Amino acid sequence: ALADHVRIVEVGPRDGLQNEKSSISAETKIELVRRLAGTGLETIEAGSFVHPKWVPQMAASDRVLSSILAGPPSSPHPITYQWLLPNSRGLENYFKVMDTAASAPNGSPTPPPSPTQDSGPAMNTSSWDPNAMPSSTSAEDSMSKARGSDSFSNERNGHKHEVSIFLAATESFSKKNTNCSIQESLDRFAPLMADSRKAGYPVRAYISVALGCPFEGPDTDPHKVADLAVKLLEMGADEISVADTTGMGTAPQTRRLLQTLREAGVRNEDIAMHFHDTFGQALINTMISLDHGIRTFDSAVGGLGGCPYSPGATGNVATEDLVYTLHSLGAKTGVDLDEMSRIGEWITGEIGKGNGSSAGRATMSR
Ligand code: HMG
Ligand code: MG
Repeated sequence: ALADHVRIVEVGPRDGLQNEKSSISAETKIELVRRLAGTGLETIEAGSFVHPKWVPQMAASDRVLSSILAGPPSSPHPITYQWLLPNSRGLENYFKVMDTAASAPNGSPTPPPSPTQDSGPAMNTSSWDPNAMPSSTSAEDSMSKARGSDSFSNERNGHKHEVSIFLAATESFSKKNTNCSIQESLDRFAPLMADSRKAGYPVRAYISVALGCPFEGPDTDPHKVADLAVKLLEMGADEISVADTTGMGTAPQTRRLLQTLREAGVRNEDIAMHFHDTFGQALINTMISLDHGIRTFDSAVGGLGGCPYSPGATGNVATEDLVYTLHSLGAKTGVDLDEMSRIGEWITGEIGKGNGSSAGRATMSR
Protein backbone atom coordinates (compact mmCIF):
# COMPACT_ATOMS: atom_id res chain seq x y z
CA ALA A 1 0.00 0.00 0.00
CA LEU A 2 1.05 3.53 -0.71
CA ALA A 3 0.81 5.09 2.74
CA ASP A 4 2.05 8.48 1.60
CA HIS A 5 0.18 11.71 1.48
CA VAL A 6 -0.61 12.74 -2.08
CA ARG A 7 -1.42 16.36 -2.77
CA ILE A 8 -4.15 17.16 -5.24
CA VAL A 9 -4.23 20.54 -6.97
CA GLU A 10 -7.82 21.13 -7.99
CA VAL A 11 -7.77 23.11 -11.24
CA GLY A 12 -11.49 22.85 -12.07
CA PRO A 13 -12.38 26.50 -11.47
CA ARG A 14 -9.59 27.59 -13.87
CA ASP A 15 -8.64 24.85 -16.34
CA GLY A 16 -12.07 23.28 -16.01
CA LEU A 17 -14.13 26.35 -16.79
CA GLN A 18 -11.87 28.45 -19.03
CA ASN A 19 -12.90 26.65 -22.20
CA GLU A 20 -16.67 26.63 -21.67
CA LYS A 21 -18.41 28.41 -24.52
CA SER A 22 -21.52 29.57 -22.69
CA SER A 23 -20.92 32.25 -20.13
CA ILE A 24 -20.87 31.01 -16.55
CA SER A 25 -21.87 33.53 -13.91
CA ALA A 26 -19.37 34.80 -11.39
CA GLU A 27 -21.74 33.57 -8.68
CA THR A 28 -21.48 30.00 -9.96
CA LYS A 29 -17.69 30.21 -10.04
CA ILE A 30 -17.61 31.63 -6.53
CA GLU A 31 -19.94 28.91 -5.33
CA LEU A 32 -17.78 26.23 -7.00
CA VAL A 33 -14.64 27.44 -5.25
CA ARG A 34 -16.47 27.76 -1.93
CA ARG A 35 -17.79 24.22 -2.14
CA LEU A 36 -14.42 22.78 -3.22
CA ALA A 37 -12.85 24.45 -0.20
CA GLY A 38 -15.05 22.27 1.99
CA THR A 39 -13.92 18.91 0.57
CA GLY A 40 -10.58 18.65 2.35
CA LEU A 41 -8.57 19.86 -0.64
CA GLU A 42 -5.43 21.81 0.23
CA THR A 43 -4.83 23.60 -3.06
CA ILE A 44 -7.27 25.13 -5.55
CA GLU A 45 -6.40 26.99 -8.74
CA ALA A 46 -9.30 29.40 -8.65
CA GLY A 47 -8.94 31.60 -11.73
CA SER A 48 -6.64 33.41 -14.11
CA PHE A 49 -5.71 36.99 -14.95
CA VAL A 50 -5.32 36.54 -18.68
CA HIS A 51 -6.53 38.73 -21.53
CA PRO A 52 -10.37 38.65 -21.46
CA LYS A 53 -10.48 38.79 -25.25
CA TRP A 54 -8.41 35.62 -25.44
CA VAL A 55 -10.21 33.73 -22.66
CA PRO A 56 -13.50 35.51 -21.88
CA GLN A 57 -14.63 32.89 -19.38
CA MET A 58 -11.91 33.92 -16.90
CA ALA A 59 -12.90 37.59 -16.91
CA ALA A 60 -14.64 37.22 -13.55
CA SER A 61 -11.53 35.94 -11.76
CA ASP A 62 -11.15 39.25 -9.97
CA ARG A 63 -14.59 38.75 -8.45
CA VAL A 64 -13.77 35.20 -7.42
CA LEU A 65 -10.60 36.44 -5.73
CA SER A 66 -12.45 39.32 -4.05
CA SER A 67 -15.05 36.96 -2.67
CA ILE A 68 -12.36 34.68 -1.21
CA LEU A 69 -10.62 37.67 0.34
CA ALA A 70 -13.86 39.06 1.72
CA GLY A 71 -15.49 35.91 2.91
CA PRO A 72 -15.06 34.13 6.18
CA PRO A 73 -12.65 31.18 6.17
CA SER A 74 -14.58 28.66 4.11
CA SER A 75 -12.83 25.59 5.41
CA PRO A 76 -11.62 24.36 8.75
CA HIS A 77 -8.06 24.08 7.40
CA PRO A 78 -5.98 26.58 5.43
CA ILE A 79 -6.32 26.47 1.65
CA THR A 80 -3.73 27.57 -0.87
CA TYR A 81 -5.38 29.41 -3.75
CA GLN A 82 -3.46 29.67 -7.00
CA TRP A 83 -3.98 32.25 -9.76
CA LEU A 84 -2.75 31.77 -13.31
CA LEU A 85 -0.95 34.73 -14.91
CA PRO A 86 0.33 35.05 -18.50
CA ASN A 87 2.50 38.16 -18.03
CA SER A 88 3.35 41.09 -15.75
CA ARG A 89 0.15 42.84 -16.76
CA GLY A 90 -1.71 39.87 -15.24
CA LEU A 91 0.38 40.15 -12.07
CA GLU A 92 -0.46 43.85 -11.80
CA ASN A 93 -4.17 43.18 -12.20
CA TYR A 94 -3.93 40.42 -9.63
CA PHE A 95 -2.05 42.58 -7.14
CA LYS A 96 -4.64 45.33 -7.58
CA VAL A 97 -7.29 43.00 -6.19
CA MET A 98 -5.01 41.77 -3.39
CA ASP A 99 -4.20 45.42 -2.76
CA THR A 100 -7.82 46.42 -2.16
CA ALA A 101 -7.95 43.77 0.52
CA ALA A 102 -4.66 44.94 2.04
CA SER A 103 -5.81 48.56 2.16
CA ALA A 104 -9.03 47.74 3.98
CA PRO A 105 -9.04 47.77 7.79
CA ASN A 106 -7.44 44.68 9.35
CA GLY A 107 -6.07 43.67 5.98
CA SER A 108 -9.37 42.36 4.73
CA PRO A 109 -12.23 44.14 3.02
CA THR A 110 -15.71 44.48 4.38
CA PRO A 111 -17.18 41.04 3.83
CA PRO A 112 -20.40 40.50 1.95
CA PRO A 113 -23.21 38.72 3.79
CA SER A 114 -21.53 35.46 4.70
CA PRO A 115 -22.91 32.44 2.88
CA THR A 116 -24.02 29.51 4.92
CA GLN A 117 -22.91 26.01 4.15
CA ASP A 118 -26.27 25.28 2.54
CA SER A 119 -26.81 28.40 0.50
CA GLY A 120 -27.67 27.74 -3.12
CA PRO A 121 -25.48 28.47 -6.08
CA ALA A 122 -26.91 31.94 -6.60
CA MET A 123 -24.93 33.50 -3.77
CA ASN A 124 -25.21 37.24 -4.00
CA THR A 125 -21.87 38.99 -4.12
CA SER A 126 -22.99 42.12 -5.91
CA SER A 127 -22.77 44.09 -2.70
CA TRP A 128 -19.04 43.63 -2.82
CA ASP A 129 -17.48 45.71 -5.56
CA PRO A 130 -13.68 45.58 -5.55
CA ASN A 131 -13.54 48.57 -7.88
CA ALA A 132 -15.17 50.71 -5.24
CA MET A 133 -12.13 50.35 -3.02
CA PRO A 134 -9.25 52.81 -3.31
CA SER A 135 -6.58 51.22 -5.43
CA SER A 136 -3.10 52.38 -6.17
CA THR A 137 -1.96 53.30 -9.62
CA SER A 138 1.66 52.25 -9.73
CA ALA A 139 2.58 48.59 -9.95
CA GLU A 140 5.26 49.02 -7.31
CA ASP A 141 2.88 50.61 -4.86
CA SER A 142 0.39 47.91 -5.61
CA MET A 143 3.04 45.30 -5.02
CA SER A 144 4.13 46.61 -1.67
CA LYS A 145 0.53 46.59 -0.49
CA ALA A 146 -0.12 43.18 -1.94
CA ARG A 147 2.46 41.90 0.49
CA GLY A 148 -0.25 42.09 3.08
CA SER A 149 -0.51 43.54 6.53
CA ASP A 150 2.42 41.50 7.77
CA SER A 151 4.96 42.38 5.12
CA PHE A 152 6.05 39.66 2.72
CA SER A 153 3.02 37.57 3.44
CA ASN A 154 0.74 35.91 0.95
CA GLU A 155 -1.65 35.01 3.72
CA ARG A 156 -5.17 36.41 3.94
CA ASN A 157 -7.93 35.29 6.23
CA GLY A 158 -5.95 32.23 7.18
CA HIS A 159 -5.56 31.16 3.55
CA LYS A 160 -2.51 31.37 1.30
CA HIS A 161 -2.30 32.75 -2.22
CA GLU A 162 0.18 31.76 -4.92
CA VAL A 163 0.59 32.46 -8.61
CA SER A 164 1.10 30.13 -11.53
CA ILE A 165 2.67 30.87 -14.88
CA PHE A 166 2.76 28.77 -18.03
CA LEU A 167 4.90 28.19 -21.04
CA ALA A 168 5.12 25.50 -23.69
CA ALA A 169 7.63 22.87 -24.77
CA THR A 170 6.98 23.50 -28.48
CA GLU A 171 7.24 26.72 -30.47
CA SER A 172 3.89 26.26 -32.25
CA PHE A 173 1.96 25.86 -29.03
CA SER A 174 3.80 28.75 -27.41
CA LYS A 175 2.78 31.00 -30.30
CA LYS A 176 -0.86 29.88 -30.24
CA ASN A 177 -1.31 30.02 -26.47
CA THR A 178 0.71 33.09 -25.54
CA ASN A 179 1.57 34.79 -28.84
CA CYS A 180 5.31 34.55 -28.28
CA SER A 181 8.28 32.21 -28.66
CA ILE A 182 9.52 29.94 -25.86
CA GLN A 183 12.52 32.20 -25.25
CA GLU A 184 10.27 35.26 -25.18
CA SER A 185 8.07 33.62 -22.57
CA LEU A 186 11.13 32.82 -20.41
CA ASP A 187 12.18 36.47 -20.76
CA ARG A 188 8.66 37.59 -19.93
CA PHE A 189 8.41 35.40 -16.84
CA ALA A 190 11.81 36.16 -15.32
CA PRO A 191 10.78 39.60 -13.96
CA LEU A 192 7.26 38.38 -13.12
CA MET A 193 8.63 35.53 -11.02
CA ALA A 194 11.12 37.81 -9.30
CA ASP A 195 8.40 40.39 -8.51
CA SER A 196 6.01 37.77 -7.30
CA ARG A 197 8.51 36.07 -5.03
CA LYS A 198 9.74 39.40 -3.71
CA ALA A 199 6.16 40.14 -2.69
CA GLY A 200 5.99 36.80 -0.87
CA TYR A 201 3.99 34.79 -3.40
CA PRO A 202 5.38 31.39 -4.39
CA VAL A 203 5.27 30.59 -8.11
CA ARG A 204 4.18 27.40 -9.84
CA ALA A 205 5.23 27.03 -13.47
CA TYR A 206 3.41 24.88 -16.00
CA ILE A 207 5.15 23.32 -18.97
CA SER A 208 2.44 22.65 -21.58
CA VAL A 209 2.48 20.00 -24.33
CA ALA A 210 5.12 18.00 -22.43
CA LEU A 211 3.73 14.72 -23.79
CA GLY A 212 2.58 15.76 -27.24
CA CYS A 213 1.52 18.86 -29.11
CA PRO A 214 -1.62 19.42 -31.19
CA PHE A 215 0.46 21.13 -33.86
CA GLU A 216 3.80 19.28 -33.74
CA GLY A 217 2.63 15.76 -32.93
CA PRO A 218 3.12 13.24 -30.13
CA ASP A 219 6.92 13.31 -29.90
CA THR A 220 7.68 16.29 -27.72
CA ASP A 221 11.39 16.11 -26.92
CA PRO A 222 11.69 15.16 -23.22
CA HIS A 223 15.07 16.92 -23.10
CA LYS A 224 13.36 20.15 -24.10
CA VAL A 225 10.93 19.71 -21.20
CA ALA A 226 13.77 18.93 -18.78
CA ASP A 227 15.76 21.90 -20.02
CA LEU A 228 12.79 24.23 -19.42
CA ALA A 229 12.13 22.71 -15.99
CA VAL A 230 15.74 23.33 -14.94
CA LYS A 231 15.62 26.91 -16.26
CA LEU A 232 12.33 27.63 -14.49
CA LEU A 233 13.63 26.23 -11.19
CA GLU A 234 16.80 28.31 -11.57
CA MET A 235 14.58 31.35 -12.16
CA GLY A 236 12.92 30.64 -8.83
CA ALA A 237 9.88 28.50 -9.61
CA ASP A 238 8.71 26.65 -6.51
CA GLU A 239 7.04 23.85 -8.43
CA ILE A 240 6.89 22.65 -12.04
CA SER A 241 3.59 21.29 -13.28
CA VAL A 242 4.38 19.02 -16.21
CA ALA A 243 1.32 19.09 -18.44
CA ASP A 244 -0.05 16.59 -20.92
CA THR A 245 -2.18 19.26 -22.53
CA THR A 246 -3.55 17.08 -25.31
CA GLY A 247 -4.01 13.92 -23.22
CA MET A 248 -2.21 11.86 -25.86
CA GLY A 249 0.68 10.90 -23.56
CA THR A 250 1.26 7.20 -23.04
CA ALA A 251 2.72 5.20 -20.17
CA PRO A 252 6.11 4.56 -21.87
CA GLN A 253 6.35 8.22 -22.82
CA THR A 254 5.52 9.33 -19.28
CA ARG A 255 8.17 6.98 -17.87
CA ARG A 256 10.75 8.31 -20.32
CA LEU A 257 9.91 11.93 -19.55
CA LEU A 258 10.17 11.41 -15.79
CA GLN A 259 13.47 9.58 -16.24
CA THR A 260 14.80 12.45 -18.36
CA LEU A 261 13.72 14.98 -15.73
CA ARG A 262 15.52 12.93 -13.06
CA GLU A 263 18.69 12.74 -15.15
CA ALA A 264 18.56 16.51 -15.55
CA GLY A 265 18.59 16.85 -11.76
CA VAL A 266 14.92 17.82 -11.27
CA ARG A 267 13.71 16.39 -7.96
CA ASN A 268 10.40 14.59 -7.61
CA GLU A 269 9.28 17.03 -4.92
CA ASP A 270 9.60 19.87 -7.43
CA ILE A 271 7.24 18.18 -9.89
CA ALA A 272 3.46 17.98 -10.22
CA MET A 273 1.85 16.03 -13.04
CA HIS A 274 -1.06 17.60 -14.95
CA PHE A 275 -2.89 15.04 -17.05
CA HIS A 276 -5.72 15.74 -19.44
CA ASP A 277 -7.72 12.60 -20.14
CA THR A 278 -8.50 12.89 -23.85
CA PHE A 279 -7.27 9.37 -24.62
CA GLY A 280 -8.22 7.90 -21.25
CA GLN A 281 -4.57 7.51 -20.23
CA ALA A 282 -4.51 9.89 -17.26
CA LEU A 283 -4.82 7.29 -14.50
CA ILE A 284 -2.34 4.93 -16.15
CA ASN A 285 0.12 7.78 -16.42
CA THR A 286 -0.67 8.68 -12.81
CA MET A 287 0.32 5.14 -11.76
CA ILE A 288 3.61 5.45 -13.66
CA SER A 289 4.24 8.78 -11.96
CA LEU A 290 3.42 7.41 -8.51
CA ASP A 291 5.85 4.54 -9.09
CA HIS A 292 8.46 7.10 -10.03
CA GLY A 293 7.86 8.93 -6.73
CA ILE A 294 5.71 11.88 -7.79
CA ARG A 295 3.29 12.95 -5.05
CA THR A 296 1.43 15.95 -6.52
CA PHE A 297 -1.27 15.72 -9.19
CA ASP A 298 -3.60 18.21 -10.85
CA SER A 299 -7.21 17.32 -11.58
CA ALA A 300 -10.61 18.90 -12.16
CA VAL A 301 -13.87 18.03 -10.47
CA GLY A 302 -16.32 16.36 -12.86
CA GLY A 303 -13.50 16.00 -15.41
CA LEU A 304 -14.20 19.57 -16.48
CA GLY A 305 -11.97 21.30 -18.89
CA GLY A 306 -9.87 21.62 -21.97
CA CYS A 307 -7.45 24.18 -23.27
CA PRO A 308 -8.81 26.82 -25.65
CA TYR A 309 -5.64 26.48 -27.76
CA SER A 310 -5.53 22.68 -27.86
CA PRO A 311 -8.26 21.65 -30.33
CA GLY A 312 -10.09 18.48 -29.34
CA ALA A 313 -8.43 18.13 -25.95
CA THR A 314 -10.90 17.21 -23.24
CA GLY A 315 -10.86 17.87 -19.56
CA ASN A 316 -8.33 17.19 -16.88
CA VAL A 317 -8.46 13.83 -15.17
CA ALA A 318 -11.52 13.96 -12.90
CA THR A 319 -10.71 14.64 -9.26
CA GLU A 320 -13.22 11.98 -8.16
CA ASP A 321 -11.49 9.34 -10.31
CA LEU A 322 -8.06 10.38 -9.07
CA VAL A 323 -9.20 10.32 -5.44
CA TYR A 324 -10.80 6.88 -5.87
CA THR A 325 -7.59 5.49 -7.37
CA LEU A 326 -5.30 7.09 -4.80
CA HIS A 327 -7.41 5.89 -1.87
CA SER A 328 -7.51 2.37 -3.32
CA LEU A 329 -3.70 2.39 -3.17
CA GLY A 330 -3.71 3.47 0.47
CA ALA A 331 -2.63 7.04 -0.25
CA LYS A 332 -4.04 9.85 1.85
CA THR A 333 -5.47 12.85 0.04
CA GLY A 334 -7.67 14.35 2.75
CA VAL A 335 -10.42 14.65 0.14
CA ASP A 336 -13.98 13.52 0.82
CA LEU A 337 -15.01 11.52 -2.28
CA ASP A 338 -18.76 11.76 -1.57
CA GLU A 339 -18.71 15.52 -1.29
CA MET A 340 -16.44 15.85 -4.34
CA SER A 341 -18.87 13.68 -6.29
CA ARG A 342 -21.83 15.87 -5.30
CA ILE A 343 -19.94 18.93 -6.49
CA GLY A 344 -19.05 17.24 -9.79
CA GLU A 345 -22.68 16.36 -10.37
CA TRP A 346 -23.81 19.86 -9.47
CA ILE A 347 -21.28 21.85 -11.54
CA THR A 348 -21.55 19.71 -14.67
CA GLY A 349 -25.35 20.04 -14.44
CA GLU A 350 -25.01 23.76 -13.86
CA ILE A 351 -23.05 24.27 -17.07
CA GLY A 352 -25.15 21.78 -18.99
CA LYS A 353 -22.68 19.02 -19.73
CA GLY A 354 -22.44 15.39 -18.73
CA ASN A 355 -20.62 14.41 -15.56
CA GLY A 356 -17.16 13.47 -16.87
CA SER A 357 -16.20 11.41 -13.83
CA SER A 358 -16.87 7.66 -13.78
CA ALA A 359 -16.16 7.43 -10.05
CA GLY A 360 -18.34 10.49 -9.46
CA ARG A 361 -21.30 9.03 -11.35
CA ALA A 362 -20.91 5.68 -9.63
CA THR A 363 -20.65 7.30 -6.20
CA MET A 364 -23.78 9.34 -6.86
CA SER A 365 -25.83 6.31 -7.89
CA ARG A 366 -24.89 4.23 -4.84
P1 HMG B 1 -0.94 39.74 -26.72
O1 HMG B 1 -2.10 40.17 -27.52
O2 HMG B 1 0.33 39.34 -27.42
O3 HMG B 1 -0.62 40.79 -25.56
O4 HMG B 1 -1.42 38.51 -25.82
P2 HMG B 1 0.09 42.18 -25.63
O5 HMG B 1 1.12 42.20 -24.56
O6 HMG B 1 0.50 42.53 -27.03
O7 HMG B 1 -1.11 43.17 -25.21
C1 HMG B 1 -2.25 43.38 -26.03
C2 HMG B 1 -3.35 44.01 -25.20
O8 HMG B 1 -3.76 43.09 -24.18
C3 HMG B 1 -2.96 45.27 -24.47
O9 HMG B 1 -4.13 46.08 -24.35
C4 HMG B 1 -2.59 44.76 -23.10
O10 HMG B 1 -2.71 45.74 -22.11
C5 HMG B 1 -3.64 43.69 -22.90
P3 HMG B 1 -4.45 47.26 -25.36
O11 HMG B 1 -3.28 48.16 -25.21
O12 HMG B 1 -4.54 46.60 -26.72
O13 HMG B 1 -5.77 47.77 -24.86
N1 HMG B 1 -3.20 42.65 -21.96
C6 HMG B 1 -3.94 42.17 -20.93
N2 HMG B 1 -5.17 42.46 -20.48
C7 HMG B 1 -5.59 41.80 -19.40
N3 HMG B 1 -4.87 40.86 -18.77
C8 HMG B 1 -3.64 40.54 -19.18
C9 HMG B 1 -3.13 41.21 -20.31
N4 HMG B 1 -1.97 41.13 -20.99
C10 HMG B 1 -2.02 42.00 -21.97
N5 HMG B 1 -2.93 39.62 -18.53
C11 HMG B 1 -1.26 37.24 -23.78
C12 HMG B 1 -0.52 37.86 -24.94
C13 HMG B 1 -0.28 36.34 -23.07
C14 HMG B 1 -1.76 38.33 -22.87
C15 HMG B 1 -2.44 36.44 -24.34
O14 HMG B 1 -1.95 35.56 -25.30
C16 HMG B 1 -3.17 35.66 -23.28
O15 HMG B 1 -3.87 36.21 -22.43
N6 HMG B 1 -3.04 34.34 -23.32
C17 HMG B 1 -3.68 33.48 -22.35
C18 HMG B 1 -4.04 32.22 -22.98
C19 HMG B 1 -4.68 31.34 -21.94
O16 HMG B 1 -5.19 31.78 -20.95
N7 HMG B 1 -4.62 30.04 -22.20
C20 HMG B 1 -5.16 29.08 -21.31
C21 HMG B 1 -4.39 28.92 -20.06
S1 HMG B 1 -2.95 27.93 -20.26
C22 HMG B 1 -3.55 26.31 -20.14
O17 HMG B 1 -4.71 26.06 -20.10
C23 HMG B 1 -2.54 25.21 -20.04
C24 HMG B 1 -2.43 24.62 -18.63
O18 HMG B 1 -3.66 24.14 -18.15
C25 HMG B 1 -1.41 23.48 -18.66
C26 HMG B 1 -1.74 22.51 -19.79
O19 HMG B 1 -2.71 21.75 -19.68
O20 HMG B 1 -0.99 22.58 -20.78
C27 HMG B 1 -1.91 25.68 -17.65
MG1 MG C 1 -4.44 22.16 -18.56
